[in-house]
Amino acid sequence: MLKKTVLLSLFTLISASAMAQTNTTPVYLDESKPVEQRVQDALSRMTLEEKIAMLHAQSKFSSPGVPRLGIPEFWTTDGPHGVRPEVMWDEWDQAGWTNDSIIAYPALTALSATWNKKMSWNYGRALGEEARYRKKDILLGPGVNIYRTPLNGRNFEYMGEDPYLTSKMVVPYIQGVQSNGVATSVKHFALNNQEMFRHTSNVIVDDRTLYEIYLPPFKAAVTEGDSWTIMGAYDMYKNQYASQNKFLLNDILKGEWKYKGVVVSDWGAVNNTEQAIQNGLDVEFGSWTNGLSAGTRNAYDNYYLAKPYLDLIKSGKVGTVELDDKVTRLLRLAYKTTMNTKKPFGNIASEEHKAVAKEIGEEGIVLLKNQGNILPIDLNKTKKIAVIGENAIKVMTVGGGSSSLKVKYETLPLDGIKARFGKNSDVQFARGYVGDVGGEYNGVKSGQDLKDNRSPEELLNEAVELAKNSDYVIFVGGLNKSDFQDSEGNDRKSYGLPYNQDNVISALAKANKNFTVVLVSGNAVAMPWIKDVPSVVQGWYLGSEAGNSIASILSGDANPSGKLPFTFPVKLEDNSAHAMGEYPGNKEELAAGKGKDQKNPINIKYNEGIFVGYRWHDTKKIKPLFSFGHGLSYTTFEFGKAKADRISMTQNDKITFTVTVKNTGKKAGAEVAQLYISDVKSSVERPAKELKGFEKIFLNPGEQKEVSFTIDKTALSYFDIQKHDWVAEPGDFEAQIGNSSDAIKTKIKFTLK
Ligand code: BGC
Repeated sequence: MLKKTVLLSLFTLISASAMAQTNTTPVYLDESKPVEQRVQDALSRMTLEEKIAMLHAQSKFSSPGVPRLGIPEFWTTDGPHGVRPEVMWDEWDQAGWTNDSIIAYPALTALSATWNKKMSWNYGRALGEEARYRKKDILLGPGVNIYRTPLNGRNFEYMGEDPYLTSKMVVPYIQGVQSNGVATSVKHFALNNQEMFRHTSNVIVDDRTLYEIYLPPFKAAVTEGDSWTIMGAYDMYKNQYASQNKFLLNDILKGEWKYKGVVVSDWGAVNNTEQAIQNGLDVEFGSWTNGLSAGTRNAYDNYYLAKPYLDLIKSGKVGTVELDDKVTRLLRLAYKTTMNTKKPFGNIASEEHKAVAKEIGEEGIVLLKNQGNILPIDLNKTKKIAVIGENAIKVMTVGGGSSSLKVKYETLPLDGIKARFGKNSDVQFARGYVGDVGGEYNGVKSGQDLKDNRSPEELLNEAVELAKNSDYVIFVGGLNKSDFQDSEGNDRKSYGLPYNQDNVISALAKANKNFTVVLVSGNAVAMPWIKDVPSVVQGWYLGSEAGNSIASILSGDANPSGKLPFTFPVKLEDNSAHAMGEYPGNKEELAAGKGKDQKNPINIKYNEGIFVGYRWHDTKKIKPLFSFGHGLSYTTFEFGKAKADRISMTQNDKITFTVTVKNTGKKAGAEVAQLYISDVKSSVERPAKELKGFEKIFLNPGEQKEVSFTIDKTALSYFDIQKHDWVAEPGDFEAQIGNSSDAIKTKIKFTLK
């Protein structure tokens, strides 16, 4: 009896402990455990095949998790300006969902033109909320490739020519997106500064230029912004493709910058298994494999980091150290995104999102010229308004490549102008010219029929007639998102405006002196008519609220405060990549037909070095059409005399400059105080000055505020190639503060000991 009882209780004890064991949450799912411990636990439970599966796509935009362990798959999405519509599992065609339309935010050039870090955070948070609601885990953006030439078809997706401005603007965007439990994928790392030959070129750039100009935004994105992923580029550097590049990924990103996140390939940027394994890539997307099914369907097993990798491991040719490192990084990402139980739920098209899009548009628009203050438009004197130009009626959110969107709505400039001015004035439209009548990208249709069979003369005559009979003429033109304009995959063919627009603008300028040109573009353009046109507005691609943002500025409801994030040269040859560097590649190689395919890549040498954008114009005294940092307001500002808290500093000191800015006009507005540093005498060649601080200040009429900038030796340093480090050379420097790179209002000298 006793024996039986003991046995029974022993049995109960054993089964209870077995029960307790089955009820115990495994460490990888236990939220009370530190993430690194959970990662290691998950890793220890995975089979070799499960690990390999995580390293490559399973569809156009997703990669597997670990189904057996309940670790979810990752869903990625383009792009920088809004959440891309759903495509089919295996094809680029539309999936045909009816619940995937979203708000389009202004293009990144416009965001950058706000020079307002707060706007960048608002942008990131709102976009991240939409991505989250659409159940995305990784947003493929933002893009921070530096603006080297105005011909680059993808400049509209980037943040301009200055590494400092881009670095400061990209960080809050990343933080805003990631506050939703959605990762950013800052792209395209690195040196993808043109679209022509993007798959078939090798960039040759010296270390100083690489570190001073092209790398800083990426470094800021991962070290300050903590972007959880980064996307490799298509082009080659040191004759190795960027997405599997030892120098960029292992040495710089994961070595020097100690990056712990995930390196994602660009879509189809991988072409070598061993390099992909060894050189720092973590997950491969979009490959067009040469497997049996030739990359059309179900070719995922043929990806470079799929079966070929598995075979190498099984045959003992490569070990599993790299494999475990890659999987570890992906698991870490999972705990921040897919397995993060604390992330918010997100939302789409809230009133707040619309307001964010509109406000960024208003703050990003740049008033380039306003002779005779003909803007804002005086409603009392303006009974008849002529709106002329195709971009007043053209949908711009469809097209341009992977950043193309399917929007809930897009307010066109003509509609925005009618809505704002229509009550007081008669608003009439004339086309003026025919540009691109297309309106489809990957099966998303703009729904517009823009065909017009009239001759250029007929169109022009109609426009001029209307202009003559109106009180005010607004021309809305520029570029668009069709091939060879502002669009991925190709570069622009020339610097001038396309489709006879120069002639139309000149004729309109003669017909009516109350004339404003609004340019919708993501790039600088030539303006041979600039002397005859009293007022010019840089309107960018502004997304869902485009027309409303533009109307706000034209009416004066919003006071323009945008500043150019890149220089507008007078002519293409004034740009340094065209004057000094190679574009679209080495001339002799170009003539020999290089660049046609990956077997015959073309070299592109960045001979202009660090002299990119205003660094070139300033140093060589080449007057631009409009300079970096330029942008007017409807009010006026006065800068006081700059003061410094010391005039001499050591390598460990900080120095603070202060300046007062006063609104001396009659309208509330915002000014951007810009700090440039100039090295008075240096042992190496340096740009005349470089941006090292900026602050946007909002001021009521008569109001004055003090702005201060604190810098340390990093703002004075150049990259020393021999030392492979930053060096601040003792000597005299000058702090120059103004409201544009060509409008310095106050200077102050100081010395570094
Ligand atoms: C582009 C990337 C994009 C990817 C996925 C590539 O062609 O370069 O920017 O994120 O496609 O659409």
